[in-house]
Amino acid sequence: MTPVQPTAKAQPLDVKRIREDFPILREQVHGKPLVYLDSTASAQKPRQVIDTLAFVYEHAYANVHRGIHYLSETATQMYEDARRKVARFINARSPREIVYVRNTTEGINLVAYAWGLPNLKPGDEVLITEMEHHSNIVPWQLVCQMTGATLRWVPITPEGFLDMEALDRLLTERTRIFAFTAMSNVLGTINPVKELVARAHAVEALVLVDGAQSVPHLPVDVQDLDCDFLAFSGHKMCGPSGIGVLYGKRELLEAMPPFLGGGEMIRQVKLTGSTWNDLPHKFEAGTPAIAEAIALGAAVDYLSNLGMDNVAAHERALVRYAYERMQDVEGLRILGPGPEHRGGVIAFTLGDVHPHDIAAILDAEGIAIRAGHHCAQPVHDRYGIPASARASFYVYNTEEEVDVLVTALHKVVETFAF
Ligand code: ALA
Repeated sequence: MTPVQPTAKAQPLDVKRIREDFPILREQVHGKPLVYLDSTASAQKPRQVIDTLAFVYEHAYANVHRGIHYLSETATQMYEDARRKVARFINARSPREIVYVRNTTEGINLVAYAWGLPNLKPGDEVLITEMEHHSNIVPWQLVCQMTGATLRWVPITPEGFLDMEALDRLLTERTRIFAFTAMSNVLGTINPVKELVARAHAVEALVLVDGAQSVPHLPVDVQDLDCDFLAFSGHKMCGPSGIGVLYGKRELLEAMPPFLGGGEMIRQVKLTGSTWNDLPHKFEAGTPAIAEAIALGAAVDYLSNLGMDNVAAHERALVRYAYERMQDVEGLRILGPGPEHRGGVIAFTLGDVHPHDIAAILDAEGIAIRAGHHCAQPVHDRYGIPASARASFYVYNTEEEVDVLVTALHKVVETFAF
């Protein structure tokens, strides 16, 4: 695997100043300063996002696309402005290609059902990988059961990469869609998305990219990648929970039937049948997460101001530092590839200590990590373990926090005396 290339233009982030934007980072936990190392599950929110949410509810809240009154028009304007910001952030051709959903999971389900049900049939194959989050496995299992299509998966190598030789055998003219994560939420592996898209397109398969871990942490350009669909969540990129995005190429979204039926997604409803609204509204049934979508726009502004090249470079440096420091902890085994191939996430085991015990001891030190299977049981099965502990990093984390983590991990070792 070629290491992820550092970008020459990256500038160091002013993390001290960034931390001042995040009020929650001033919290004490069990009498200790909070060390938040669980951003892969959900990132914290800067003041700019929190203020936007409060502003909308205090000054600009009404239902969108429905009212002929000042507040509704204001909210609609802000809601659609945020969509334009998201489109620019991932370089979509048009805001019409940006569908608001609840989260990555809903975006993937939308494609699995609205594209998969009418297009898949017995003999067709859906290709995923062994490193997927459950949200990019289970919807495809369900839709394959309904359509008679076959689900296949690309295995992971012992080092934590996709097995590219197996991919050669698995991608065939029977493959109708290849759905894979841009970055594993357990192994941290950054996959070669552009190459994978090109290989899938060579057999005329569509591509869905799970961008839950890439869009918050790396520059993403959907036109350059040429992916057909990209799903991601607001809450992992400094935005609110309850809002996410499905990007889809316009011609594909145009051809798909709606996923959910209800208000606002229709052009005309008769008791005998209905017709559909234009994109993206065809896929946005019911009252959406209005303030949350607008605040997602504020999160996009926040990350854009930092610069995604700079965000990626900061996390790369931090993960390299953490990876090296964690080698000193007796019995600690890191899952996945070396730091040059991964994003800001390090999942690990520590001797025979249960990951929940590790997390509990760290919690007493004010450190928040995740423990369990991280909604990715097949990855853990691959390495013969039921669960792992996971530290993950974002724009507000520092080397000093890594030092606090490593000291606490030594304490775990002492506690269990191995
Ligand atoms: N997908 C999230 C995680 O990896 C929840 O923790």
